[in-house]
Amino acid sequence: MKLWSGRFSKSTDQAVDHFNSSITFDQRLYRQDIMGSIAHVTMLGQQNIISKQEAKIIKDGLLSILKDIDAGAIDFDITAEDIHMNIETLLIERIGDVGKKLHTGRSRNDQVALDMRMYVKDEIVHIDSMIQKLEKTLIKIAEKHMDTIMPGYTHLQRAQPITLAHHFMAYFEMFHRDRQRLKNVFKSTNHMPLGSGALATTTYPLDRTFVAQNLNFENITYNSIDGVSDRDFCIELLSTLSILMMHLSRFSEEIILWVSHEFRFMELDDAFSTGSSIMPQKKNPDIAELVRGKTGRVYGNLMGLLTVMKGLPLAYNKDMQEDKELIFDSIDTVKMCLPIFTQMLQTSTFSKEKMYQAASGGFTNATDAADYLVKKGIPFRTAHEVIGKLVLYCIQQDKTLEQLSLEEYQMISPHFDETIYTAISLEECVNRRNMIGGPSKEIMQKTIEENKKRLKTL
Ligand code: ARG
Repeated sequence: MKLWSGRFSKSTDQAVDHFNSSITFDQRLYRQDIMGSIAHVTMLGQQNIISKQEAKIIKDGLLSILKDIDAGAIDFDITAEDIHMNIETLLIERIGDVGKKLHTGRSRNDQVALDMRMYVKDEIVHIDSMIQKLEKTLIKIAEKHMDTIMPGYTHLQRAQPITLAHHFMAYFEMFHRDRQRLKNVFKSTNHMPLGSGALATTTYPLDRTFVAQNLNFENITYNSIDGVSDRDFCIELLSTLSILMMHLSRFSEEIILWVSHEFRFMELDDAFSTGSSIMPQKKNPDIAELVRGKTGRVYGNLMGLLTVMKGLPLAYNKDMQEDKELIFDSIDTVKMCLPIFTQMLQTSTFSKEKMYQAASGGFTNATDAADYLVKKGIPFRTAHEVIGKLVLYCIQQDKTLEQLSLEEYQMISPHFDETIYTAISLEECVNRRNMIGGPSKEIMQKTIEENKKRLKTL
């Protein structure tokens, strides 16, 4: 029999039970649901809304259910619709009529809002620690590659020499912002909605602050209508996870390029790549490709929830049950991607030679050659023109700037002397970029030390 059967003269159609029920997926909220109920019932006891002894019996009943669910000993029932009513039904089965007092002063509307907030907070902590591991990995690799010169790109055309450390620390910044965003989502999630009731609070003298403190919430919600109908925190989470996936996807794209035969900057460990069923030579970056691909579903979940919410009148509407799978799928996806991506990086190797070759073959030092003339008193725009001509000459001769003779330089401009060769050496080009944010070894050492602290003190 349904917990709300009083008003009905027949039972629901089986098809409706199936359609309406969310237990197959919201059962993962059982711990939050039980802890939330325990806090609620403890408060009911303290406020003498029920007796302290009743509160104790209910609490013990809930704890026994928690233990059994943990042990996998409970079969959920789809006719009980969702995790909230499954647990309440089980409670009443176990402890009898006193169990019917649990839901005093509460609605499933504020209950589910509470459970989702608790769940999101818990998961943010997990995801944050996964990103932190990735940050640590990036730092480890960067520490080893402060002298590994590679071309930096714009338009995927070789632009200026940088180091692998500099490149990877760019991703550190991106992932660090993701952590900051997650922290902000945590903050907006950290409001306790119980007491909102169905939408208009309740007449019982609930102590909302007690429940909030008991459940480690920093705040309570301040409008009961909003308390039950707000899913902004879910949308904020999905948006933050989408941005995080976008970062992982850009990184994946680079890895896919870098392991290709055209680049060969990087090699994946055999244990973190896959073969082809037909082409024996293949070693494919499937992990990076899947991470890139899975970004699509996380974006889709964000769009899905925005669309679910856009036309909903206040307050609770059943449409909002659709938030669950979108949130769960995004969290699961991110939690699947982060560790494997991190491991893939940890086990990869980088080819200093290939990177150096690419940096020296693509005129990445042309800006520095122009700056060289500027230091000799030539206006930058003129210097730019001169070096442009020089590059064209090199392309025609199939040479690099380093390979030109002094006569060839002087043929283009009399301002060149033998110091041009050190001025355009890639090491010089990198290490002269010695301001905060730049690739020089000195700056990179400082940045890495700084980032070791930043990653702990978010
Ligand atoms: N399973 C529902 C959900 O996920 C719980 C809240 C239902 N409330 C209601 N009045 N039907 O949104």
